[in-house]
Parts: sequence; structure tokens; C-alpha cells
Amino acid sequence: KKSINIGMLGLGTVGSGVATILRENEKELTQRLGVSVRLSKVLVRDLDKQRNTTIDASLMTTNMADIIEDPSVDLIVEVMGGMEEARDAIEQALLSKKPVITANKDVMALHGHALLRLAEENKCDLYYEASVAGGIPIIRTLEDGLASDRISGIMGIVNGTTNYILTKMKEENWTYEEALTKAQELGFAEADPTSDVEGLDAARKMAILASLAFSMEVHLQDVAVNGMTNITSKDLELAEQFGYSVKMIGFAERDEEGVDVSVEPVFLASSHPLASVRNEYNAVYVYGDAVGETMFYGPGAGSMPTATSVVSDILAACRNLLLGVSGLRSHNPMNERCIKSEEE
Ligand code: NDP
Ligand code: HSE
Repeated sequence: KKSINIGMLGLGTVGSGVATILRENEKELTQRLGVSVRLSKVLVRDLDKQRNTTIDASLMTTNMADIIEDPSVDLIVEVMGGMEEARDAIEQALLSKKPVITANKDVMALHGHALLRLAEENKCDLYYEASVAGGIPIIRTLEDGLASDRISGIMGIVNGTTNYILTKMKEENWTYEEALTKAQELGFAEADPTSDVEGLDAARKMAILASLAFSMEVHLQDVAVNGMTNITSKDLELAEQFGYSVKMIGFAERDEEGVDVSVEPVFLASSHPLASVRNEYNAVYVYGDAVGETMFYGPGAGSMPTATSVVSDILAACRNLLLGVSGLRSHNPMNERCIKSEEE
């Protein structure tokens, strides 16, 4: 095979970042894989929309089946967002034995367990690094880096929009509405920002992280959620006077009695490492019984950071396609003995 053809569903904030990285890093990506990766078809809603992208208009289509059912498309990238249509697309792609990369936490938090089982049944990859904390490789970290440990707790700032709003209200005296409008302009907010400010987006991400950390099915309805819409500038000022910062924090804790997952605005001591996380940045603080305290920090939303995670997933899935295997993440030949091959 000389090149791997990608069918991408969506060309918005994240999709256009993916297109940019595939173009700008073409040489490095080809070197790392040994073959080239190219966008062969892209799904959009509106063909006439003015777009800030160099993608050839002839690659764009409004017909999903035209992409998923095309035998020349090797791999599907789902960055269209939404729920039912995106889930159906992922399902159809996996049933057609096409690996899927998604940034969609709405789908992964609600249907992720079933979709991952479907992927396994079809010996296909389903990677979703970008669905939690944008550019921070936290899913890989929990799946691989900390896989030997027993994780007892996670505390995370996992929504960029709310952290951006709280930062701008506190540091620049912006109103809540001004800060939310700017977060929308910058592409951080969801299509319906209610899910950001009411804590649902963070709850979805915490359900995904808790499932990975505790190796169990944590469902969205198990997460207790409180939004930040009632927070005022006065609250932020008062908190500061007493040595605290107001932050939207996701908690996932495990003890002998079970697992607790929640999202809420809290007063955090200003000396806590999470208190210094500003703007759209995210951070995930993980406690492992053996490793102790670790913290992973980086941009949690936005076009290029999120696209970095998507393209890294594309690379992992492409390597597996070339090897004829699934489920392998890193490009380490030493790992090949762990691969579940097609013949097994
Ligand atoms: P956008 O709204 O910017 O882009 C969505 C794209 O999908 C658009 O190109 C749109 O087409 C296309 N699209 C949507 N629905 C359809 C449909 N029914 N048929 C055809 N095309 C469709 O979203 P984002 O890029 O911001 O987000 C994409 C996904 O990534 C979401 O799941 C989001 O939660 C997730 N995500 C987003 C992050 C961010 O910072 N923005 C960070 C991490 C994850 P058209 O352009 O014609 O309107
Ligand atoms: N709306 C989300 C956020 C995008 O603000 O964090 C990244 O998942």
C-alpha cells in the first residue's frame, strides 16, 4: 500500500486542524509510517460555506454513505459532533471493518462501552484520545503509562470553556457573557454551550476517565453534576481574598465502598497545582497507589491542540492497518509479540 485514505466526517474547528496537521506535517508523518496518509473525502453540511482551509472542494460531500461505503476509504475520522448521527456513522464504519478515530465525548460517554465492544468484535481500532482534555494524551496515559498501578482518585479541570470564563472574569473583569462569547469565537465551546457551563461536557469526560482509571463501566447518569452559571465576579473576588480560586473540578474517587464521580465549581486553595491552570488549559491530577501524585497539563480545547490528538490516533490506527492488527498503540517493535493478529 502506497497511501492510506482517510474519510473525515466534519470540517469545523477540529476537522480543519486535522487537515492542517496532515498537510503541514506530511513529511514527518510519511517518514514515521513508511506510507503517506491523505484525506480522500470530507463530509460537511453546507458545500457553499466559506472555509478557511486549503482542502480541495472536490473532496467535500454531504453524503455520509459516499464516504463510509467507499471501499477505497481505509479509515474514518469522526469530528462532526452530535449524538445519534455520529454514533450511527461510527457503528457503520466499524461494521465495514474501517478503524475509527473520534473526538466525540458525547458519544463515547454514552455509547463508548458498546462501541468499543463492537470494535473488538470487528477486529478494528476505535481511538478517542481527543474526546478528553483536547491536546493532553490522558487516555493513553491511563491505558498504558499508568496501567500497572491501582488508581484511587482523579481530580481534573477538563472543560476549557468554563476555565476560560472563570479566568477572564477573575483576571480581566470580563462579564460571564463576554467571556462565553469569546470562548465560542475561539472554537472552544460546544455547538450548544449549555453543556459546557452546566457541567455536562465535563461529566462526560469524567465518566470516560473514571471508566479507564477504575476498569469499570462508569455511566454518565452515575456522575453528579453542578454547573457554574450562578458564579458571579463577587464570588471570585471573595474567594481570592481568603486564598482560594473558584474552579470547575471533576472528581473521580474509589474506596472500599465503591466509586464516586462528580463535577462542580469548588473553592480550591490557591496553592493547589490545579488552581494555577488558566484560560482554556486543562489539567488532570491522578493519584496512583504506587506512583503517588501525577499531573498532566495542556490545552484542553481548540483546533490545533485537539487535532494533535486526533492525528496521533490516526497514526496509531494506520500502523495497525499496515500490520494487519488492532488494539496496538505505540510504535515499538518489541510490542509485536503482544499483538492479537488476524490469524489468532
Ligand atoms: P464544529 O461545529 O466546528 O464542526 C462540525 C463539522 O461537522 C462542520 O464542518 C459541519 O459541517 C460538520 N457537520 C456537523 N453535522 C453534520 C451533518 N449532520 N452532516 C454533515 N456534516 C456535518 O465542531 P468542532 O470541530 O468544534 O467539534 C467536533 C467534535 O470534536 C465534537 O464532538 C466536539 O465535542 C469535539 N471536540 C471539540 C473540541 C474543540 O475545541 N472544538 C475539543 C475536543 C473535542 P459545516 O462546516 O458544513 O457546518
Ligand atoms: N467544549 C469543550 C471544552 C471542547 O471547552 O473543553 C473540548 O472538549
